[in-house]
Amino acid sequence: MDKVYMTRAFNFSAGHRLFIEGLSEEENKEIFDKCANPRGHGHDYRVEIMFNGDISPDTGMIISRDEMDGSVNEIINDFDYKRIDLEIPYFKKYQSTVENIALYIWEKMFKKYKNRLSYIKVWENERSYFEYHEEELR
Ligand code: NI
Repeated sequence: MDKVYMTRAFNFSAGHRLFIEGLSEEENKEIFDKCANPRGHGHDYRVEIMFNGDISPDTGMIISRDEMDGSVNEIINDFDYKRIDLEIPYFKKYQSTVENIALYIWEKMFKKYKNRLSYIKVWENERSYFEYHEEELR
């Protein structure tokens, strides 16, 4: 069968603050820079998710766009216009860095799509993105 890869992009806006409890404001600023701002701040995030699959002889597609959009939007809606570190329980325990956001989305999507998930990229700004995939790129 012919394996095809498809990447789909999603956007959400959210606020957060990065800080380690127990450290002073100066120490937090040293580690997290502007993201330690005590009043929080926002980002326009972009999420790219790559899927792989064999082309179905019936539909001619590798995956249902609607179903996939539904799965991703379900996760992303939890983030949209929220204060990530205060409103999503997982990020009360783990820092709301892009690295952790990418891993969080990966784990939720992986439960459903398993090996059909190739990678996830999360952009926090236009300069850099963080990528998560299993050890071996599929
Ligand atoms: Ni930030």
